[in-house]
Amino acid sequence: MSERPIDLRSDTVTRPSPGMRDAIAGAEVADDVLGKDPTADRLERRVAGLLGKDAALFFPSGTQANQAAVLLHTQPGTEAVCEGEAHVFHYEYADAAWLSGVQLHPVSSASGRVSADTFRRAIRPGDRHHPTTSLFCLENTHNMHGGTVLPVGDMREVRALADEEGIPVHLDGARLWNAAEASGTPLHAFAAEADTVMVSLSKGLGCPIGSLLAGPAPLIDRAWWARKRLGGGMRQVGVLAAAGLYALDHNLPRLGEDHDRARRLASGTNAVAGLSAEPPDTNIVMIRIADGGPDPEELSAELDRSGVRILPAGPGRLRAVTHLDVDDDGIERAVDSLSAAMGRLTRG
Ligand SMILES: Cc1ncc(COP(=O)(O)O)c(C=O)c1O
Repeated sequence: MSERPIDLRSDTVTRPSPGMRDAIAGAEVADDVLGKDPTADRLERRVAGLLGKDAALFFPSGTQANQAAVLLHTQPGTEAVCEGEAHVFHYEYADAAWLSGVQLHPVSSASGRVSADTFRRAIRPGDRHHPTTSLFCLENTHNMHGGTVLPVGDMREVRALADEEGIPVHLDGARLWNAAEASGTPLHAFAAEADTVMVSLSKGLGCPIGSLLAGPAPLIDRAWWARKRLGGGMRQVGVLAAAGLYALDHNLPRLGEDHDRARRLASGTNAVAGLSAEPPDTNIVMIRIADGGPDPEELSAELDRSGVRILPAGPGRLRAVTHLDVDDDGIERAVDSLSAAMGRLTRG
């Protein structure tokens, strides 16, 4: 197999483009722990502006930024409510408990859209027997529900409840860019419904590293200390921030292409016997294997042998993610490989 593999494991697999590498090479830098790195400063101001927040802070990862937010909003021995398939619940190594002494209270939803009513039912009664509810966490788009968009109206209802109850809201917006592109709702309108917002540069935007936490100025001042405490103080971080500025100029406007390709991948998948996929909101396609079909691990391994990488995502499911390193031809090859692999695995 001489052709380049089609890598749909995640939108994090992208490699910096030549233009991004030039931007990194030319970055103006300074020590961001002793003072301020000028390029990081520019990126932070720009992202704060896009999100309509006072300030933003660059973090090495989305996990660290999410956990800094949990640390800032909560007190040890309290509880944070999140959706049951949320990244903060499943994929952050119980950091909320480990770093902040906070218990996560997961609630279920259809497609990642937790209703305000569900959040209301999860709030503890404030008596002598229960922990205090100290935070609501939202995720938009919702990764493990297949890149679903949480509509801004839903967020507004959760926010109204949170305000009524005096509970802060953190938004894991690793892919908020995709939610904005797909819904036509501006980034700042989503961000207005949360106190703090995490956005990632290292997913659909094609950067090698980086996320930002945005929010009110006093909180983001404290986030600097939280980041340092978590080992995230970075020196000439402008080399990474330069990639972020490049991505906002060049890669943010093209996200719709990834969404179109994800829709094409889903409709191609629906034409393969034994497979199905819901039309995706954004760039994540959940591929369902019909009962009696191969295991996801088996199908994933078979695809890999034909140069198409798609990861299992729980029982009977694979997750394919489109991104800027997959073109139209790649989508065609992925559909052909799905069809051929299913043919081989299900033949007598
Ligand atoms: C929704 C969501 N939040 C947070 C993260 C964590 O980001 P990072 O891998 O940069 O720690 C991810 C990573 O895939 C994610 O999908």
